[in-house]
Amino acid sequence: MINNNDFRIREIIYSLKSSPIRNVANSVIGKKDIIPLYFGETDITTPSFISEAMKTALDKGHTFYSANQGVSELIETISSYSSELHKKNISTSRIMVTSAGMNALMITSEALINPNDKVICVTPVWPNFMRCIEIMGGNIIEIPLTHSEKNNNWELNLEEIKKNIKNAKAIYINTPNNPTGWVMSRNEQIEILELCRKEKVWVISDEVYERIIYDRKVAPSFLDISKEDDLLIVVNSFSKSWAMTGWRLGWMTIPNGLINIFEKLNEFNVASPSSPAQHAGVIAIKEGEKFIKKMINDLKISRSVTIKHLNNFSRVIFPNSEAAFYAYFKIKDISDSEKFCFDTLQSTGVGLAPGTSFGNGGERWIRICYAKSPNLLNKAFEKLKPVLS
Ligand SMILES: Cc1ncc(COP(=O)(O)O)c(C=O)c1O
Repeated sequence: MINNNDFRIREIIYSLKSSPIRNVANSVIGKKDIIPLYFGETDITTPSFISEAMKTALDKGHTFYSANQGVSELIETISSYSSELHKKNISTSRIMVTSAGMNALMITSEALINPNDKVICVTPVWPNFMRCIEIMGGNIIEIPLTHSEKNNNWELNLEEIKKNIKNAKAIYINTPNNPTGWVMSRNEQIEILELCRKEKVWVISDEVYERIIYDRKVAPSFLDISKEDDLLIVVNSFSKSWAMTGWRLGWMTIPNGLINIFEKLNEFNVASPSSPAQHAGVIAIKEGEKFIKKMINDLKISRSVTIKHLNNFSRVIFPNSEAAFYAYFKIKDISDSEKFCFDTLQSTGVGLAPGTSFGNGGERWIRICYAKSPNLLNKAFEKLKPVLS
């Protein structure tokens, strides 16, 4: 019999933690009548003006590799969009198109992380960047947000970050945050940036939900306050703002002067992101504002339906969230969120994501994605009543 070790796969890859969300979802593959609230995407298809742009791009023959940095028209479009959004010039030489946010995060790890480098991660957080750090042999220092019972919100533990920042290679912050919906304040961003400048530590800011925010047009971004030579990488994506998760298109904003480094990494990851998708991306940005506005209005309704239901359960604590499309809540009397999600899926058919997916300390926490129709959410909560009451 062949032993796994006979393949001499890197030890770290063997031991990478599989996603608890996938574990739960895999338990019902092929089963009908599941209400899947575990994955992070809306239930709407990409708007047709973007799909049409993809078809036109194909008809026009945009079927070849693009430059490593991306299609020039898309780079210019992102540069203008980002400059307007963040009220400063973000030059084309700082933009690289990637095969979505995930690929931008992997490229970031490849560029920065040496074996044994210490990388601070503010958790809870979507876990994939932590796995990238591990793939590169880096060490994760988790610094959890604190759930303040008094204010019922999430708070950054700045003191703990200050204690750990020395000799760190980077700090990874996802704001607006998946899963909590926490948004980092402008003052906190200024403090973190100052601290990182002093200690020469990279800030890796994952801002893929910057437009999924309910009381303003865009969330505070590190781009608003940084200089073009700061050690800052901002990751962005078409997935969430334009309902394009399956397209695999995103971008990263990097310091001026480093584009050649990052182009090399694009070359050795995917050569270039899909050319027709990039052409459609131009149209998504140029013509997409009306769509984003409508999506946010719809999400507001789904969000208030979710809050209304969750507030009915006395076992449930749901800290305030300002952004993204998740409800991250605690069930006071459970101790194993993964088991709770498995059991709930079997008994109710509703797919929840266990809090243990997002870092240490998630044993009592559950995430749902509420980017669904109010009808579906009402149906899901009706089914969840027996397990949440
Ligand atoms: C915080 C965060 N960053 C990055 C991503 C990556 O998204 P994509 O690879 O679809 O751009 C996700 C996806 O859920 C996410 O939640």
